[in-house]
Amino acid sequence: MDIKHFILLNWIWIGIALIIFPILFKITVPYGRHSKRSWGAMTGNRLGWILMESTSLLVFSICFLWNGFIHGLASWLFFAVWLIHYINRSYVFPSRLMTKGKKMPLAIMFMAILFNFMNGFLNGYFQGNLSNYSPEWFYSPQFISGSMIFTLGMMINMQSDSILISLRKNNSNGYFIPYGKMFRYISCPNHFGEIIEWAGFAVMTWSLPGLAFFIWTVVNLMPRSLDHHRWYKREFQDYPKNRKALIPFIL
Ligand SMILES: NC(=O)c1ccc[n+]([C@@H]2O[C@H](COP(=O)([O-])OP(=O)(O)OC[C@H]3O[C@@H](n4cnc5c(N)ncnc54)[C@H](OP(=O)(O)O)[C@@H]3O)[C@@H](O)[C@H]2O)c1
Repeated sequence: MDIKHFILLNWIWIGIALIIFPILFKITVPYGRHSKRSWGAMTGNRLGWILMESTSLLVFSICFLWNGFIHGLASWLFFAVWLIHYINRSYVFPSRLMTKGKKMPLAIMFMAILFNFMNGFLNGYFQGNLSNYSPEWFYSPQFISGSMIFTLGMMINMQSDSILISLRKNNSNGYFIPYGKMFRYISCPNHFGEIIEWAGFAVMTWSLPGLAFFIWTVVNLMPRSLDHHRWYKREFQDYPKNRKALIPFIL
């Protein structure tokens, strides 16, 4: 694919995200606590996570390695970063979930596969075929600040995922109020961390596919955080009053 068509595809993908964004504030995407049988056939929650997230891992790897192994050091580093995130999200995270007997609609799984296919393709194709970072890139303000933002986001995301998973250490399948770390300020620090992470990736790669993925992450997770926050307030009378949904002190 030539660069002109590649850029156009990225803008179309961003345009779709911007159309879907307001719609997601009106519907609650039915997985996890919001899962609904009315969305048709269901699949096991853990299997769903593995299939949908490993798509991104696989597609990025194929696109990146398609033309061989000769890439600049920075592109290899961005590939490694993608691998670390998606090995966790596709295999480690689902294996830790206390999700026995829980299901998600197949429709959601297929939508997430499409989403992960596009993100894996755009970012993998860019890093493997179009990017051309010089060795000086490692000293650029974009790389230095972006890699710090990415690391911070990943730490917040993984720490918050771990707190949520540990809430069910008594083998229950129920829901509890999470406390500690970023949960002092917001209901969904796992989502907040994920958004910061991909903002960092967009900055450190300074790429259109990186920007597209960041925008899609906001589109997916901002409405979901607001849904979670409303759900917590509905379910728990003693839910902390000053806790926000996604952005400390603001939203
Ligand atoms: N980049 C993207 O666009 C994108 C999109 C979606 C998700 N993600 C990431 O994927 C991860 C999971 O996302 P998610 O939206 O599914 O997270 P979530 O709704 O917060 O759930 C995470 C896990 O913790 C459990 N859990 C959550 N709150 C709980 C509570 N109060 N008590 C007991 N257990 C609780 C959930 O159980 P149940 O499943 O039974 O509710 C689930 O197993 C996050 O790190 C998120 O950032 C990224």
